[in-house]
Amino acid sequence: MWPSLIRKSKEGGLNAIETYVFWNAHEPHRRQYDFSGNLDFVRFLKTVQDEGLYAVLRIGPYVCAEWNYGGFPMWLHNMPNIKLRTNNPVYMNEMQNFTTLIVDMARRANLFASQGGPIIIAQIENEYGNVMSSYGESGKEYIKWCANMAESQKISEPWIMCQQDDAPQPMINTCNGWYCDQFQPNNPNSPKMWTENWTGWYKNWGMKDPHRTAEDVAFSVALFFQNGGTFHNYYMYHGGTNFGRTSGGPYITTSYDYDAPLDEYGNLNQPKWGHLKQLHLILRSLEKVLTSGEVKNIDYGNMTSVTIYTLDGKSSCFFGNANESNDSTITFQGNNYTIPAWSVSILPECRTEVYNTAKVNTQHSLMVKREDEAEDEPDNLKWSWKPEPFERISRKNLKGAMIASQLLDQKVAANDASDYLWYMTSVKIDKNNPDWGNEITLRVNTSGHVLHAFVNGKHIGSQWSKNGTYKFVFEKQVQMRHGSNQISLLSVTVGFAHYGANFDLEEAGIHGPVELIAAGNVTKDLSSYKWVYKVGLLGEHQGLYKAEAGRLQKWHTDDLLVNKMFVWYKTTFKAPLGDDPVVVDLLGLGKGHAWVNGHSIGRYWPSFLADEDGCTSTCDYRGAYSDNKCLTNCGKPSQRWYHVPRSFLQDDENTLVLFEEFGGNPSSVNFRTVTVGTACANAYEGNTVELSCQGGKTISEIKFASFGDPQGACGSFKKGSCEAANATAIIQEACIGQKSCSVYVSEATFGSTGCNVPAKSLAVEALC
Ligand code: GAL
Repeated sequence: MWPSLIRKSKEGGLNAIETYVFWNAHEPHRRQYDFSGNLDFVRFLKTVQDEGLYAVLRIGPYVCAEWNYGGFPMWLHNMPNIKLRTNNPVYMNEMQNFTTLIVDMARRANLFASQGGPIIIAQIENEYGNVMSSYGESGKEYIKWCANMAESQKISEPWIMCQQDDAPQPMINTCNGWYCDQFQPNNPNSPKMWTENWTGWYKNWGMKDPHRTAEDVAFSVALFFQNGGTFHNYYMYHGGTNFGRTSGGPYITTSYDYDAPLDEYGNLNQPKWGHLKQLHLILRSLEKVLTSGEVKNIDYGNMTSVTIYTLDGKSSCFFGNANESNDSTITFQGNNYTIPAWSVSILPECRTEVYNTAKVNTQHSLMVKREDEAEDEPDNLKWSWKPEPFERISRKNLKGAMIASQLLDQKVAANDASDYLWYMTSVKIDKNNPDWGNEITLRVNTSGHVLHAFVNGKHIGSQWSKNGTYKFVFEKQVQMRHGSNQISLLSVTVGFAHYGANFDLEEAGIHGPVELIAAGNVTKDLSSYKWVYKVGLLGEHQGLYKAEAGRLQKWHTDDLLVNKMFVWYKTTFKAPLGDDPVVVDLLGLGKGHAWVNGHSIGRYWPSFLADEDGCTSTCDYRGAYSDNKCLTNCGKPSQRWYHVPRSFLQDDENTLVLFEEFGGNPSSVNFRTVTVGTACANAYEGNTVELSCQGGKTISEIKFASFGDPQGACGSFKKGSCEAANATAIIQEACIGQKSCSVYVSEATFGSTGCNVPAKSLAVEALC
């Protein structure tokens, strides 16, 4: 997908691509590196350069990013005497080793700008300033060391540190956030740089869908440049998908859509993409005057200000109104201007407004999931299935097993080789002892995230973390027999913590105590019993998810087993027609992991619903954005659809494998393509409206068209008090049967409206 994503970014008016480097992906085992396939960062940067863009390399190597363990490999945690992100020689040696490796690889490939390559800036650490105080003096020493270590790499390009007020020179400190117009670097000679403008927000399992409006993102960008900004980057411009077990959290969803200008699948998220594109083109046309001009500010009160940049006798103006509710009208050089609330107008010659962040003239797309089935694809997928055993201590499980007389943290015991870790022990019960007669309770204190408990091979219950607290207590009455009893606890992690002071020490897995409680509160603490550990599922070891290895195993083909926990499912399918992105609908399933042709498409959890309340159907762009503003998808699965990149698919037969952990029914699983269903436009006179379908599809119907003072929003437009007679016919003529069409909004195009409104507009709703 890289070339097409990068091309769409360039078309959107970007001139650089910023990317992190993920240490845990590149060095999964100490000193064993992987830069193959999707991990080939050199190829990625070359692709960026081939498209004519610059690159910013955020090495970190701590990266946060809602990425598993913030990008740290788990072996790092498990090194003796190590302390992460502080003045600790073991850690610093590893960090230096990896940073040097990345810089050297980039240098060998001539990727730095001074060598003719695309990289203009590199980053060390990430937002350490947010947490530094928790590390005391050692934290301060560490950040100085980071700066020296970066400097010692001797690249000719500048290094940045984000959210680091005390970044030692010559490190440039930069800002991250939804707004950075008020940010000032810690050195008056440093450029004002914004490394992360959050275009929306990420999602946890159980969360609603966040939306940040195009108007608000554009406002934040324009205000930043009005106030002297020089470098600005979106986080994310394309967030994509957390394939495999790459999402952190805990509990970050597989989708990392972020409401970014390019959506999870690489489609244009309209109007955001287009509205920002127009802004980028204007800002870049002003590059010279913004970076070398003289600056003058005029304060008009009520949070309204005019900034004039002048160079060689020519001036460009920004009119900003940061008031949340009041539009403001100002007189500037003899002319009157209205600046809508929470907006910035740009006047390249200080006379005519060519862009206002609150006036969106670009297409608004409503995306749909469409059935584009291959011709001979049967209506129902044919499934085979295979149960995953409930493990217990056995001769097989003891072979080479890790055994400890204590409860181990999951990071230590599983080393992040799998989400799944079995803790197994056996306990003797003397039924002749009246205390241990019948009523026995098993109580497990776990630090999360999911627990399945078994006694003597029988499932007795499951529980998982909810509402952002990862520690919980599982308690259940159990039947025990006289003599030896087997207790097996499967602990499941759903991504490791990635953010916060000492996030790396956050507990995971069963920390205990694990107790049996008999009547009268007589307690047996099993915490220091002999525990046998088993990492991963049998099916994972057997490679059931790989199309090839899976074939060697015996799968059941009749009497589909449904709504039972621990079942592997397998089916084959044909790729949907066309080239629109593909998703698989996993509604009906509980929680688990999915693979297509052996590629992990990530964890799934469609049974995890978002809260019922807190959603809105309208969204006011005015006022500061936060992650609880403009939410949708209440009461629905946090994530129902899972991205299957076309590059994972083959023309003939493809295999989908699921591991269903909770129990579910795969019968309604189906494949869809994601494309533009409805294309709307709502633009004022003097603008050109462009409507486009996607994936070769054409406009089939004009559901609404009115030129005058139409009301409402895409999907619910209404005619206003006046309109031109033939707008629908004119739009039909221009658009039906076309992949895209454009019309200039004016009375010359549509005829007179008889409207007596300050500005006439055109609203169109077209079906693709
Ligand atoms: C920043 C961090 C990013 C990402 C973002 C939230 O603090 O640097 O990596 O986590 O927050 O999406």
